[in-house]
Amino acid sequence: MAFKIFNIAIVGAGRVGTLFAKFLSEIIGHKIVAVISRSDESIKRFVQKFKVNTASKSITDLPSDVEVIFITTPDSAIKDIAWEISQIENLNFKNLVVYHASGVLTSDVLSEVQSRGAEVGSIHPVYSVSHFDYSVDEIRKIKFTLEGSPKIYDITKWIFYNFDENIISIDKSQKILYHIACVFASNYLVSLLNTVDEIFKRANLNFDHKFLHPLIEISLKNASELGSVNALTGPIERGDLETIKLHLEELQNKFPEILPVYSSLAIETIRIAFKKKSISMNLASQMLDLVSSYIGKK
Ligand SMILES: NC(=O)c1ccc[n+]([C@@H]2O[C@H](COP(=O)([O-])OP(=O)(O)OC[C@H]3O[C@@H](n4cnc5c(N)ncnc54)[C@H](OP(=O)(O)O)[C@@H]3O)[C@@H](O)[C@H]2O)c1
Repeated sequence: MAFKIFNIAIVGAGRVGTLFAKFLSEIIGHKIVAVISRSDESIKRFVQKFKVNTASKSITDLPSDVEVIFITTPDSAIKDIAWEISQIENLNFKNLVVYHASGVLTSDVLSEVQSRGAEVGSIHPVYSVSHFDYSVDEIRKIKFTLEGSPKIYDITKWIFYNFDENIISIDKSQKILYHIACVFASNYLVSLLNTVDEIFKRANLNFDHKFLHPLIEISLKNASELGSVNALTGPIERGDLETIKLHLEELQNKFPEILPVYSSLAIETIRIAFKKKSISMNLASQMLDLVSSYIGKK
């Protein structure tokens, strides 16, 4: 299909809304015609970056020439906004595409606009979007997972012209587990880095997780080259029961708040070490007994 400039509206001028607007206008060449958001502040921030015809706090102000709507509000608002859009009389639903950006919700939450004739999709940026100023070079590399109405895959390739390789289709039934994996890879990784910082602080060591960056980087490199089972090293993989006991005792005495997360990850690591055939069934079960004996200990 030949390139066509689409008229796009962003509903929810937050971090992801701003990222989509930049991708679609500055990289692909579409026109952002409207922004709808909750506060004057988010609207002001958005219009400083993008020249739009309509900027409003009311969804009913969506202009009739809009062809693609990205709902980039918090997940909890998406269904109600889709319903509000479905009630707008002057929209041309037969030529309308509506997306939301949630990783966990499916396009089913857009059923009200779909029943008016719009094509619908959930398009999730596989990225941790924490600010408003990603460079064009960074944005170009972002991958998106997509699921939605039957025609949405072809339409999305048209809208994301020349970026079809960035769009990966998934099935509705896969979304929740897919999102759990994203949460492990991003949010829980950040939480673990915070745990590292807190442990250093508790030990009166004057550095934070950045000191461990070489260790973190080589672990990522090994996991990508060898796979996430074969890359495993450390005391559990070596079968060092005594080291695990030292860790558990120290945490019990000096940082009991961390015992639950240490124990949970230890149990998972024992499973992986066994899968790697680094430890025998007998040693794995001794380790599990040891770790379990500290769970719930005061
Ligand atoms: N951040 C990420 O890393 C990330 C990654 C992938 C997917 N997502 C998904 O992207 C979506 C947006 O997340 P985000 O991180 O961009 O959130 P965000 O930065 O908090 O932005 C949400 C925006 O929606 C606006 N808003 C809230 N309720 C609204 C309503 N009823 N009507 C119109 N606008 C409303 C807010 O306006 P005010 O600022 O004026 O209150 C805010 O600007 C979510 O579905 C999320 O799951 C996020």
